[in-house]
Amino acid sequence: APSPAQGVGPIYQPDGEKPTATVSKEISYDNVHVLPQTPQLIALLTMIRDKRTVRADFIFYSNRIIRLLVEEGLNHLPVVEQSVTTPVGRAYLGVKFEGKICGVSIMRAGEAMEQGLRDCCRSVRIGKILIQRDEETCMPKLFYDKLPADIADRWVLLLDPMFATGGSATMAVEVLKQKGVPEHRILFLNLIASPSGVTEFAERFPKLRVVTAFIDQGLDDKKYIIPGLGDFGDRYYTL
Ligand code: PRP
Ligand code: URA
Repeated sequence: APSPAQGVGPIYQPDGEKPTATVSKEISYDNVHVLPQTPQLIALLTMIRDKRTVRADFIFYSNRIIRLLVEEGLNHLPVVEQSVTTPVGRAYLGVKFEGKICGVSIMRAGEAMEQGLRDCCRSVRIGKILIQRDEETCMPKLFYDKLPADIADRWVLLLDPMFATGGSATMAVEVLKQKGVPEHRILFLNLIASPSGVTEFAERFPKLRVVTAFIDQGLDDKKYIIPGLGDFGDRYYTL
């Protein structure tokens, strides 16, 4: 099925006057959350999808989307009641985060999401898993992992911008589960997902949560996401 098109613009503008843009596919899994398709998000995605966008701009605009993903991802962690007293002596009933978290990036592209997490969670611990997709077979291969010793007691924000076949992310979740992290404490933060990849993943791991900016059209014969943005790691680090 083609991706849906939608009028994109400020809410006060009548729908008929808004420019049309391709927005994320919707999928009906409770554990998959797609960011609101706001004019800002669509404009940022348009920048990073454009093949003419040079590396400095690619980094700048993808960092902005990553920040939105982290901010939204934090809404999926539990909070507890917290009452405070303000400087004018009145009580305010609010909430605070409870529980320990850590980031885990799937190298190399996932490392691009670490700064966005650090900007929101000061001195957050970050583990690394090096998984590379074989260029011929597209199958993931695990080379290395280095994770906080007490990871089984933490909420884990798993970081990878691209989710194509889902092989890499699935392998990373298996590593986390082997280390004792319960599935329900894993939150996967992702920029662009393929519909097949995210569907299989959501069914295989029904208790973990995915927060993604966009579910794209599909995969090409090289298992690249289409329309996608090409190779994220190359465009962010080396191109
Ligand atoms: C890319 C991407 C994901 C993976 C997605 O990494 O960052 O990790 O491919 O594909 P999949 O869902 O089909 O597994 P790649 O292995 O190319 O390495 P890189 O991060 O070093 O670019
Ligand atoms: N990895 C990427 O960086 N892009 C894709 O489209 C698929 C895998």
